[in-house]
Amino acid sequence: MNVKDIISLASLSAAEIYEILETARNLKLELNAGVKHEMLYGKTLAMIFQKPSLRTRVSFETGMTQLGGHAIYLGPEDIKLGERETTEDIAIVLSGYVDGIMARVFEHQTILDLAKYASVPVINGLSNLLHPCQILGDLLTIWEKKRELSGLTLTFIGDGNNVAHSLINGCTKVGIAFRIACPGGYEPDEAVVGAAQQAGGSVEILHDPEEAASRADILYTDVWTSMGQETQTEEKKHAFSGFSVDEALLKVANNGALVMHCLPAHYGEEITYEASRSTGSVIFDQAQNRLHAQKAVLALLMS
Ligand code: CP
Ligand code: NVA
Repeated sequence: MNVKDIISLASLSAAEIYEILETARNLKLELNAGVKHEMLYGKTLAMIFQKPSLRTRVSFETGMTQLGGHAIYLGPEDIKLGERETTEDIAIVLSGYVDGIMARVFEHQTILDLAKYASVPVINGLSNLLHPCQILGDLLTIWEKKRELSGLTLTFIGDGNNVAHSLINGCTKVGIAFRIACPGGYEPDEAVVGAAQQAGGSVEILHDPEEAASRADILYTDVWTSMGQETQTEEKKHAFSGFSVDEALLKVANNGALVMHCLPAHYGEEITYEASRSTGSVIFDQAQNRLHAQKAVLALLMS
């Protein structure tokens, strides 16, 4: 793969996305067969978190261990990114110690600055704008369950947020048509949508969940209030009322439609507990596939 960093799936070609997915599939098969890897022996990943995390933190740290390397967790109180010293200085100093940096940040510019000033690979573990590692695990899950990617339709019910943006980038690269049903005023970023459409991707913005779910192969949702937006919780609960994945909406989608959620979930808001446990639900496969997709990214960027 001919890239230094993974900041946005929009910067990868379809071939590079498939290279990650194929590597992930092989690493998963090998892990399940008990094959041990040492491809990152002696290498260290710094993991910077400005926000909380279960999946991203544990899957990256475990992934490094399984590839023979080591990860260091730097939480919000440890380095105080952007407060105690500049992002530029942190990137330069860390590059003198470690072989890769993964960061979960508020401002997307912070991850761009880390990548600009670090001489080692930088991986976006979620910013207010994007969440590319989530979507790599999701594409692996869809590929395993549906045996194909191109030609499918994925409908996102909810906020035009970081997960929706990376879904737009990732789905359109591999030929999945993307649709969103969101309340007016909560549409995805125009620049993200425009770039995907200009590159030939299919992106539709709708405001009626049933219309959007009709003939969908995948129903995907995420929390109404993302990390950092807590002051908007009440306003968003009101605006998003009715924008939920429930069993009635599942009936509108295609037979055998997958139900997806990046987690954490707020049951009774964007998804009912029943829909999350329905036959088509792959929410825990997605969570597990974060490990395999990220190991592929680590191996391709750092070995
Ligand atoms: N989906 C996801 O990124 O989960 P965490 O916030 O727990 O890392
Ligand atoms: N949109 C959510 C995703 C969490 C994984 C957030 O940013 O909080």
